[in-house]
Amino acid sequence: MSKAPHLVVFSGSGISVESGIETFRASDGLWANHPVAEVATPKGFERDPARVLDFYNDRREQVRRAAPNPAHRAIAELERAGFRVSVITQNIDDLHERAGSGNVLHLHGELARARSSVDAQMHYPVPESGIALGDLCDKGSQLRPDVVWFGEAVPLFDDACELVAEADLLLVVGTSLAVMPAAFLLDYLADDAACVLVDPDARALAPPDVVPVDMKAGEGVPALVDQWQREQALAPPDGTMR
Ligand code: APR
Repeated sequence: MSKAPHLVVFSGSGISVESGIETFRASDGLWANHPVAEVATPKGFERDPARVLDFYNDRREQVRRAAPNPAHRAIAELERAGFRVSVITQNIDDLHERAGSGNVLHLHGELARARSSVDAQMHYPVPESGIALGDLCDKGSQLRPDVVWFGEAVPLFDDACELVAEADLLLVVGTSLAVMPAAFLLDYLADDAACVLVDPDARALAPPDVVPVDMKAGEGVPALVDQWQREQALAPPDGTMR
C-alpha cells in the first residue's frame, strides 16, 4: 500500500509578520534595533545576561499577545483534512501549534522553554513573568531561553533533514534563506520532490528548481492549501511535480 504524500513546511519569521511579529533582516527588523552579537550569542549572554533575558522576555510577551494568521491556520487545516503534514519552523514562537498543527519541529528553539546554561538537556517551563536573573537550574546555574544562538549547534538539524528527505512537496514560507545550516535543508529534498517558496521576495530568493510565489504568507499559503484540497493532491502552483 503506498503512503499518503507528505507535505513538509519550512517556515521563517515572514509567516508571523501578519500576526504582528517583525522579521529579523528587514530594515526595521529585530536585528536592526538589537545587535545580534549582544542578544543572540553565548558571549552576549555572558557579558550582559539581564539584557538578553529582557530581550527574550519581550519577545515572549509579544507572541503571547499575537494570534495565528491565515497562513498558520491553513497549514493546520490541511492536517485536519487528512493530509500528512510536518512543520519545520525557524521561529521560536508557538503560532503553528496554536493554529492546531500537531507535528512542529522548532529548529532554533522555543520561547516557551527555558534551559540550564550549563546543560542543554535540562529544560524548564518559563514562569508567567519570564526568566529572571537568579532563576537557577538544578545544577545551580542561571536559566536561559531554550533558543539556538549564533555560534551554537542546531541539535534538531538531523531530524529536520530526515523529514525533508521524506517530503513529496516542501512548502517554504517567509524566510530569506540567509541562515545556515537551516537553508541547507533544501538540499536534502529528493530528486522527484517539488519545492515552492511563498514570500513577497520569492522570485529574488528562490534557488533554481524552487517555484517562487511572490505573495504574503497570509494570502499565498491559503490559496495553495485551497488548491490542494480541491484537487485532493499536493502539487506546486504550476501543477507539475518535479
Ligand atoms: N509573508 C511572507 N513572508 C514575508 C512577509 C509576509 N507577510 N513579510 C516579510 N516576509 C519575508 C521577507 O521577504 C524575508 O524573506 O520574510 C523573510 C524574513 O527573512 P529574515 O528576516 O532573514 O528571517 P528568517 O529567514 O526567519 O531568519 C532565519 O535568522 O537570525 C536568525 O534565528 C533567526 O530563525 C531566524 C533565522
